[in-house]
Amino acid sequence: MPQAATLLPQWRGEAVTPLHPDTAFNGFICAHVVHALQGLGLLDELDGGAVDLAGFSAAHRLDADVVRALAAAAARFGYLEVRDDHAVAMPLIADARRVLGFFTWGVGGYHDVFAHAAALARGERRFGVDLHRDEGMVALGSAQADRALMRHLLDEQIAQLDFGLLVDLGAGVSERVSRLVRGRARSRGIGIDISEPATELGRQTVARYQLSDRVEPVCADVLDILFAGHRVGAAEQADVVMSFMFLHDLLADPVRRDQVVPRLRDAFPKAHTFLLADTTVSPAGGDDDRLPIFSSGFELAHALMGVPIYTREQYERLFDAGGMRLRRTVAFGAPHTYLFVLEPA
Ligand SMILES: C[S@@+](CC[C@H](N)C(=O)[O-])C[C@H]1O[C@@H](n2cnc3c(N)ncnc32)[C@H](O)[C@@H]1O
Repeated sequence: MPQAATLLPQWRGEAVTPLHPDTAFNGFICAHVVHALQGLGLLDELDGGAVDLAGFSAAHRLDADVVRALAAAAARFGYLEVRDDHAVAMPLIADARRVLGFFTWGVGGYHDVFAHAAALARGERRFGVDLHRDEGMVALGSAQADRALMRHLLDEQIAQLDFGLLVDLGAGVSERVSRLVRGRARSRGIGIDISEPATELGRQTVARYQLSDRVEPVCADVLDILFAGHRVGAAEQADVVMSFMFLHDLLADPVRRDQVVPRLRDAFPKAHTFLLADTTVSPAGGDDDRLPIFSSGFELAHALMGVPIYTREQYERLFDAGGMRLRRTVAFGAPHTYLFVLEPA
């Protein structure tokens, strides 16, 4: 059985548990401040040196008092120094920038879901009916995390593979498939996503990459491809099939769960490699008193939405039972996130 790259040091995290309520409350506020500074563009501006808060506010038509209050809060948390109405980045900002995607994901994408957890428990609100995540922010957070933490790891795997046609399932805005096709002469790609807005954004991504003749974003339900014989152009000719942060969605229905992996094989009979990445449930127990970023939020958010998520071992068993051989498991940047490199057995 191939071994995973061992736990990366950053998966150990820096959040010491038990988390004192003082730390918890301040962390909640701090996360919102970081997200706001990112959204306003102040974090980017700080890269260029000291930022004049009055000038920055005027240039971006912002309320200078609100900007100053956010900068003061960030200074109190140790992210900035503010002197003479100028903000200067402290070293912690570099750490925050690396993991900004998780703030975008959590604060931007899931704030309503977390805030209404009690209402969900009481049955007063229902996810997907009268309670929603912000899909745009979830997609943006994913893209930020990909850029900062995962891209180079995927590139290392792709560099080892021959492919003429690459298919990405649950492709979002088709960024990954476009980037990879651009990097491989004469290759083509198809990005399949159930969301029409994401597919439309995918067309814009493809145009931006000037790949309209080589990459096609297609709006379709992957479950229809696997279970209802739906065909998407030349997709069944794919040499390499990928999916990122989407596998748990495919497995959500307990009745069809065990059939998903065999159906993937059947739907893409020519694929020699499947690159399937997802975040897993962090291992229970252990004596580690430090939590990494993201995992607690990922696990709670999916529990609140009623979407099961899986351990690494559960995924590996599912692949094995479904007729896929694990070539390797790669620790994939974000905590407890793996890229499973598979081939038909
Ligand atoms: C968490 S996002 C990941 C997007 C992208 N792969 C990434 O890593 O940034 C999951 C994506 O799967 C899409 N999706 C969910 N269910 C789907 C289905 N049944 N068929 C196709 N796409 C689906 C969603 O619209 C969303 O874009």
